[in-house]
Amino acid sequence: MCGIVGYIGNKQAAPIILDGLARLEYRGYDSAGMAVFDGKKINVVKAAGRLKILEEMTHNGETMPGCVGIGHTRWATHGAPSTVNAHPHYNGTGTIAVVHNGIIENYIVLRKMLQEKGYQFVSETDTEVIAHLVDYYYKGNPLEAITKVLHRVEGSYALGVIFAEHPDQLFATRKDSPLIVGQNEEGCFIASDVPAILKYTRRVTYVENQEIVRLRKDHMHFYTVDEEEIQKESVTIEWDSNAAEKGGYEHFMLKEMYEQPKTVTDTLMPRIKDGEVVIDELNMSDEELSGIKKIYIVACGSAYHAGVTGKYVLEGLSRISVEVDLASEFRYRNPVMEEGAMVIVISQSGETADTLAALRESKERGFQVLGIVNVVGSSIAREADSVLYTWAGPEIAVATTKAYSAQLIALYLLALKFARVKKTVSDDEFGQMLDDLKKLPDQIEMLLSNKNNIQRFANRYIGARDIFFIGRGIDYAISLEGSLKLKEISYIHSEAYPAGELKHGTISLIEEGTLVATVATQPGLFAKTISNIVEVKARGAFVLAVTVEGNIEMEKAADYVIYIPETNPYFTNSLAIIPLQLFGYYVSVGKGCDVDKPRNLAKSVTVE
Ligand code: AGP
Repeated sequence: MCGIVGYIGNKQAAPIILDGLARLEYRGYDSAGMAVFDGKKINVVKAAGRLKILEEMTHNGETMPGCVGIGHTRWATHGAPSTVNAHPHYNGTGTIAVVHNGIIENYIVLRKMLQEKGYQFVSETDTEVIAHLVDYYYKGNPLEAITKVLHRVEGSYALGVIFAEHPDQLFATRKDSPLIVGQNEEGCFIASDVPAILKYTRRVTYVENQEIVRLRKDHMHFYTVDEEEIQKESVTIEWDSNAAEKGGYEHFMLKEMYEQPKTVTDTLMPRIKDGEVVIDELNMSDEELSGIKKIYIVACGSAYHAGVTGKYVLEGLSRISVEVDLASEFRYRNPVMEEGAMVIVISQSGETADTLAALRESKERGFQVLGIVNVVGSSIAREADSVLYTWAGPEIAVATTKAYSAQLIALYLLALKFARVKKTVSDDEFGQMLDDLKKLPDQIEMLLSNKNNIQRFANRYIGARDIFFIGRGIDYAISLEGSLKLKEISYIHSEAYPAGELKHGTISLIEEGTLVATVATQPGLFAKTISNIVEVKARGAFVLAVTVEGNIEMEKAADYVIYIPETNPYFTNSLAIIPLQLFGYYVSVGKGCDVDKPRNLAKSVTVE
């Protein structure tokens, strides 16, 4: 996600800002920019592409004089990656500049209000609304203007703001997006994350939600959103700089697993409004949606596994027939496709060659293609007829976790939207499912807190040769992803199998001590799955079961049980996958594998 750096002090700001932004590159971005007050006015330099372009444009910041400034690396959400959409954004007179990390959920309403008051917008971003809103409320008192803005905006933000009329001050605030501040003998700093300023100071202060910081070159003041001054404690960072880039986590994969509650919230909440599922990105009327009789889902790897879950959820809730295909198969099997069907392609990177080819094949045949994509402005995002973005932010680890979780959310939302327009679920069922979805982030958080037990269990299997994952229905889809997570980062052979299919051959591989991970989250299938557990145990298997709280039958059947909290059976993948991600992660760590960059793998497979 975006990176923010700001500085006010005795030294030239631009080189410090660029250095800080470079240390945040791991967060992923597609454009960058800086705004620095030169003693008379605020100069803004920004460019699409890598930070190197900005460094070259400003000779590493040397051509931007001034000791107070803000900088930003943008991970595009609203508005494609471009210079005009890059931050900083500023007001019409260029006397106020803003950088932002997060999503302003009510930016459309605010933008319309401001336009009606004569404000002109130049970008497609939600952030530009903040710049003009600060201007709208600014009557000479920057703190007052900022607090009024915070009372109006909804969503998540970390903000850096400078005012040409107050060059001795730099302002920062946040809600749900991270922000820290720090100080040394040469000035004060703001940053999205520790690595950006660790070189300058190890003493930082974590800004809490809706706290506002007024930084001067030699001191900082903290305020509540009601302008009451408060005292804050600083902490000393003990990390080394490399560890700091991972926010203190040992690997990006672990960090990204822990970002899943936020990822689910960011993907879900902007699309639930007044008790309804609102997916503006579909560009389809309810009448058009209710006319869809067939859906083809096409993807690769984990995205395909999300698609398999999507089939069960879409068919179960909306009664629309769904086919799921691996993109590498779809593109060459000359598929027979029904007139008027919708094609959905799922891709974290938006650059997977096979998935892009499947999209093009579908469009050539005249089908409407919806992309469920994480990278804004990626090839699939650009070529799809409509895009449902997963707001997971950049995913660094090759093994996907948070993007996969966000893909599930996107598919649940689609299924509920179709079910609503086709009236295949009652109002009560619909409302209850929305409530269940809103509980998922906290439930994921709770499951992540069980990591120590899972690590202990995983350590028993770092020497394993084969590990099997079995399940029925959605539990089979969960097994597919659990198996892939394990094998791609621990290099242990693993297979996912429909539990009912095991006895048709694969059960011959079960030996004394073979670990069989059984996923059992579908109440209607518990008894059947338990009979499969009995089958493999009779051949010597050790059975790990992932099941829902209250399924005490599983205690008798399995050797080791991990419980997930109650939720709607259609949504259990979002919870059951958490312990399986942790299991794969800790087996890999126990084996000393390169968790974030496993051998032979690339984050984006742009070749066939
Ligand atoms: C996920 O853990 C894998 N690294 C891989 O299967 C990935 O899901 C697949 O390559 C598809 O990538 P995409 O979502 O970017 O299209």
